[in-house]
Amino acid sequence: MKKPFLFAVLLALAGPAAAQKLTAFHPGAVWPDNHGTHLNAHGAGVLFDKGRYYLFGEHKIAGLTGNRAQVGVHCYSSRDLYNWRDEGIALAVAPAGSGSEIEQGCVLERPKVVFNKKTGQYVMWFHLELKGRGYAAARTAVAVSGKATGPYRYVRSYRPGAGQWPLGFQEAWKQPLPGEKDLKWWTPDWYRAVAEGLFVRRDFAQGQMARDMTIFVDDDGKAYHVSASEDNLTLHLAELTTDYQDFTGRWNTIAPAGHNEAPALCKRGGKYYLLTSGCTGWAPNAARSFVASSIWGPWQALGNPAVGPDADSTFHSQSTAILPVAGRPDAFLFMADRWVPKNPIDGRYIWLPLTFEDGRPRLRWADTWTLGVFDQPRPAATQ
Ligand code: DGJ
Repeated sequence: MKKPFLFAVLLALAGPAAAQKLTAFHPGAVWPDNHGTHLNAHGAGVLFDKGRYYLFGEHKIAGLTGNRAQVGVHCYSSRDLYNWRDEGIALAVAPAGSGSEIEQGCVLERPKVVFNKKTGQYVMWFHLELKGRGYAAARTAVAVSGKATGPYRYVRSYRPGAGQWPLGFQEAWKQPLPGEKDLKWWTPDWYRAVAEGLFVRRDFAQGQMARDMTIFVDDDGKAYHVSASEDNLTLHLAELTTDYQDFTGRWNTIAPAGHNEAPALCKRGGKYYLLTSGCTGWAPNAARSFVASSIWGPWQALGNPAVGPDADSTFHSQSTAILPVAGRPDAFLFMADRWVPKNPIDGRYIWLPLTFEDGRPRLRWADTWTLGVFDQPRPAATQ
């Protein structure tokens, strides 16, 4: 037997290489789990629960382009954020033809899990597009489990805010403007009409569109759903009920007509910081940042938080979440996806330290880094 052939046979018999223990983040590199397989958790969020981190993301299929869900939401767990153990599929799609809203072939994006202390339930929210309808359904959906790793039971989907005007919506905006439906898209008059509720009025009865989303739990235990709404023109922030499974009906707009998606939210020094992207499909663009003293706004735009080479494409990535690092005060981790539309399973993860300079969020590229960066002296958060 020739030597290279013998080597290949031995390698195949040995199975996937046992993963080496990782001691740092390597943004953009293949990220092996405990089996040596690249993490399959795209558009992810992280839950910290009883000393462990749980990563939840979209499971992609080898060789399948497009974004139709075939399997569901993949879960991994970790104690150190570098090394991830495969915990399997936390929420499985229903069989094709079952008629379920989450049947195989639907679009299931950006899952985020939070723990509800009152009910003892883990609550997963995600963006749901119904099978065969492209991105038209624009729904948000919820599933629950008694265990962090699942299995999660699908509860239902929503168009939030049905029959409810956002806070501060002016009386004059509740009636359609003459000829508003004929306004040409992307013109100054049209932008003004969007900012003054054109799409909010359109979707008032059926509920507002909800695409890219995140969930944020505040210090007082109240949870909020933030989603790209109004054809991705305006972000909506909506309060969740105490069980985190429904909406209270109290909601507001953020950056009306600003064309933001990929929202990620954190709280630092009593202020709320929101990172978003622009809307260019799977292609990366420059991130945006906002700050507010109340979660209900007003939100002040702070510009692109990224600096240095490739800042104009957020280092070729799009935000998905901000993770407060457990046990390290004022330490935040920016999580983003480097999408690979031609082979989505090869999508890479761009995790970077999110720092604050003069009250502004900052992202800088690092080929490799450790949580030790948060031990270095940094400006304190002030209220
Ligand atoms: C960008 C979004 O952020 C993704 O989650 C996904 O919805 C794609 N757009 C679809 O084009």
